[in-house]
Amino acid sequence: MYEKIIITGVPGTGKTTIANMLGEHFMTRVIHITDYIKENELIEKKLRDGTIIPKMKELRNMLNKETGIIEGHLACEFKLRNSFVLVLRCHPEELKKRLKKRGYSTKKIKENVEAEALDYCTQMARQNYKAVFEIDTTNKKPKETFEKALKIIYGTSQGDDVDFSSYLEKQSPGKTKKKVAKKKQTIKKTKKKTKK
Ligand SMILES: Nc1ncnc2c1ncn2[C@@H]1O[C@H](COP(=O)(O)OP(=O)(O)OP(=O)(O)O)[C@@H](O)[C@H]1O
Ligand SMILES: [Mg+2]
Repeated sequence: MYEKIIITGVPGTGKTTIANMLGEHFMTRVIHITDYIKENELIEKKLRDGTIIPKMKELRNMLNKETGIIEGHLACEFKLRNSFVLVLRCHPEELKKRLKKRGYSTKKIKENVEAEALDYCTQMARQNYKAVFEIDTTNKKPKETFEKALKIIYGTSQGDDVDFSSYLEKQSPGKTKKKVAKKKQTIKKTKKKTKK
């Protein structure tokens, strides 16, 4: 059996909400990676805009020893043993609205929306883990997302097959595949930070 359930996805996809619901259901501890970094003094540096750069190696080593539910977008960046991974997804248009509501800057919204359209977290998670399932939260209530997560955990659903790539094509028509690939690399580098 798996010792960790990881909930990952770009900011605003509903990780904290769903992880807390699952934690209550399974009566187990939920580790919120952003809090965990602060509690365990794993901050490498803090940028002017509030972005926290964690000590990635130490963070990974400590999380590796934990069990239960672990949530955070950084979880897709590294391999944690014995993990079952759920990637929460949200259509870029709806994600934009969720992040606007939170008062994120235009730059941060753009960055995160693009990462979502490029399947960033799913791709990273698939590179790092074997059991990876997606859930599309677009137009869904948290309760529906929670129920789908349970079905996946119990093996009665394979989750959703999400593809928002047409969104970027619409935003920048004519953009070549090469340019999109380059963008993916840039996002890969910048997302190694914790954005808050
Ligand atoms: N189907 C859904 N599942 C989960 N959350 C949803 C859903 N629909 C809307 N939301 C809303 O999305 C918002 C973002 O949720 P939440 O704070 O859990 O995201 P997050 O992924 O933890 O973000 P961050 O990475 O910034 O911490 C909340 O207001 C939540 O209620
Ligand atoms: Mg959160």
